[in-house]
Amino acid sequence: MRRFEHKTVLVTGAAMGIGAATARRLASEGASAIVADCNEEAAQQKVSEIQGSGGEAWFQHVDLANPSSIEEMGRQVRERVPCLHGLVNNAGILRTASIAETGDSDWEPQITVNLRAPALCTKVLLPLLRKGPGHIVNLSSEGAFIAHENRWVYTASKAGVLALTRNMAREVVGYGMRANTVAPGWTVTEMHFLHSDDPAAKKAELERVQRTESVIPRLARPEEIAAVIAFLLSDDASYMTASIVHVDGGRVTS
Ligand SMILES: NC(=O)c1ccc[n+]([C@@H]2O[C@H](COP(=O)([O-])OP(=O)(O)OC[C@H]3O[C@@H](n4cnc5c(N)ncnc54)[C@H](O)[C@@H]3O)[C@@H](O)[C@H]2O)c1
Repeated sequence: MRRFEHKTVLVTGAAMGIGAATARRLASEGASAIVADCNEEAAQQKVSEIQGSGGEAWFQHVDLANPSSIEEMGRQVRERVPCLHGLVNNAGILRTASIAETGDSDWEPQITVNLRAPALCTKVLLPLLRKGPGHIVNLSSEGAFIAHENRWVYTASKAGVLALTRNMAREVVGYGMRANTVAPGWTVTEMHFLHSDDPAAKKAELERVQRTESVIPRLARPEEIAAVIAFLLSDDASYMTASIVHVDGGRVTS
């Protein structure tokens, strides 16, 4: 399948996890993948891997917590390409804290990266997306639908993404664009393990919950989320917009 031949798609947070898998998938289907991230070393490595397997990709620096960095990304991408055929607002961060422990250092980064950045990236890239036309996929989470302890800021930011996407969908339809949300279940990526003292114990705990609460009793692989994102960006999803697609082994809907 080469659904993205001669197309350019920007993926935020593409240095790792679901974003990296998405950039790989899109490039494997012919896209030129823009790997946008603040982690230059990891992002450049992903670009090299994609190029090494015959795909097309380039690195774009952006710090999604910083509006002027997002503006600068928009300026640089506009200089480099005449249009965009897709935008995946994928980057997200997870900080856990109880209600009592939560402070500004929890609110600020999660709201700016998880909720404000998808809006700002869409705004600065809209002139290019209108020309594509380019479709948008925003990443929410099963956490927007299921209550968890110590994740209230993260889950609130991810619930905000649902409303944001629905509004985007209404606003961009006139440009021939679609906007959808993907809500992944727990997926094996650095998000869960980067700040963990004991990654093996953390993985075992996630696996135990998934075994008991999900229909498919295992964690997801990033490639399984990427496949659905690619579908939504492609013409195969031409009648889908403002949708929320749960890719969580049946956890939320069962
Ligand atoms: N992994 C899961 O279980 C899971 C579940 C549900 C939803 N999600 C969502 O899927 C998306 C991807 O998650 P993941 O697990 O692949 O995450 P990850 O931690 O593996 O990767 C996140 C990427 O975002 C980048 N990033 C973080 N802050 C940034 C910033 N300020 N500027 C630029 N780049 C930044 C990181 O460098 C990294 O490359 C997120 O929105 C996340 O909330 C993940």
